[in-house]
Amino acid sequence: MDTASYDLLSTAVLMLDTEGSIRHANTAAEELFGLSRRLLSGRPVHELFGADSGLAERLPDALGGKFGILRQDLRIQRGVDHMAVGLALVPLHRQPWAALLEVRVLEHHLLLDRHRQLSKELKNQRESLRNLAHEVKNPLGGIRGAAQLLESELDDSDLHEYTQVIIAEADRLAALVDRLIAPQGGPLQKTRFNIHELCERVYTLVSIEFPGIDMVRDYDASVPDISGDFSRLLQALLNIVRNAAQALTEARMESTPRLVLRTRIGRQLLLAEHQAKLGIVVSVIDNGPGVPDDLRDKIFHPLVTGRASGTGLGLSLVQEFVQQHGGIVEFDSRPLHTEFRMILPLEQIG
Ligand SMILES: Nc1ncnc2c1ncn2[C@@H]1O[C@H](COP(=O)(O)OP(=O)(O)OP(=O)(O)O)[C@@H](O)[C@H]1O
Ligand SMILES: [Mg+2]
Repeated sequence: MDTASYDLLSTAVLMLDTEGSIRHANTAAEELFGLSRRLLSGRPVHELFGADSGLAERLPDALGGKFGILRQDLRIQRGVDHMAVGLALVPLHRQPWAALLEVRVLEHHLLLDRHRQLSKELKNQRESLRNLAHEVKNPLGGIRGAAQLLESELDDSDLHEYTQVIIAEADRLAALVDRLIAPQGGPLQKTRFNIHELCERVYTLVSIEFPGIDMVRDYDASVPDISGDFSRLLQALLNIVRNAAQALTEARMESTPRLVLRTRIGRQLLLAEHQAKLGIVVSVIDNGPGVPDDLRDKIFHPLVTGRASGTGLGLSLVQEFVQQHGGIVEFDSRPLHTEFRMILPLEQIG
């Protein structure tokens, strides 16, 4: 790789000579240290990391290849702030430089860990809920059957009101149980399609269901085709758009309820397991009241709902389906502007 190619990397890279002095810094390194290439070059690299990093002492051996790749986490000063970074020093052989030092900002890793942790938690929760639902299903059938029998034996038709309540409530619970049990894990039925076919389906369905909402399509026609499970992604996007439409309908608003369905190509995307060079970002933006503050941290959890008639399964399913495609769902919300983004990685193209 020549030095210009290093400039394309988002990770800071410093090239070192046999003395451990900086010979070249890429653009990301200039940004990270807040110093120009000219000021960085010629400087002993350990100076950037302070004396207690112990780097000066370890450097000769590391450059000599004694540790293989030397990895070390430490804190560096940037302005008045400290920042956690992870170093990886890779000795090079028969190259113009003796070694390459990669410096990563650790917030990134922490974020990934948090994301992984959260999705593991959600997965466990969904599993326990499914188990519980299975347990509830059988006795529920019994209760309903018994209420029907009882009704047929009751002479006083006034009392039928009560048995009807039992039957109706048992049916409501059974519907919920069925949604919880519905298999969502099976292998993906992948086909190749354009994301806009999916968006158009959602657009049609939701504009019929919510005629009072001004739905705007803002597509980037250059978005390449994606390989995925059409029906699961359709369900995912539909759940997100329905939520937005419901939020708009239920709120008493002064401005016209408006929903934007937007597609864009995204670059250097931070996903759950890795960073993707290229992906599709589908945004659903509404000008409703916003996600209630007390729900913000948990709306992706199953059975969490802010609506009287909601079951709280919509977003949990979205999360599951999008994750099966290696993607993520995220949101920002404030009054009059809520944006849910479904980010799907694209395979390497070109
Ligand atoms: N665009 C939005 N604006 C405001 N609140 C939202 C929006 N999207 C989701 N929410 C909040 O998140 C909650 C959880 O959504 P989720 O889709 O998981 O469940 P639900 O819509 O309540 O029920 P279900 O989808 O199972 O019918 C909603 O009840 C609502 O309070
Ligand atoms: Mg919903």
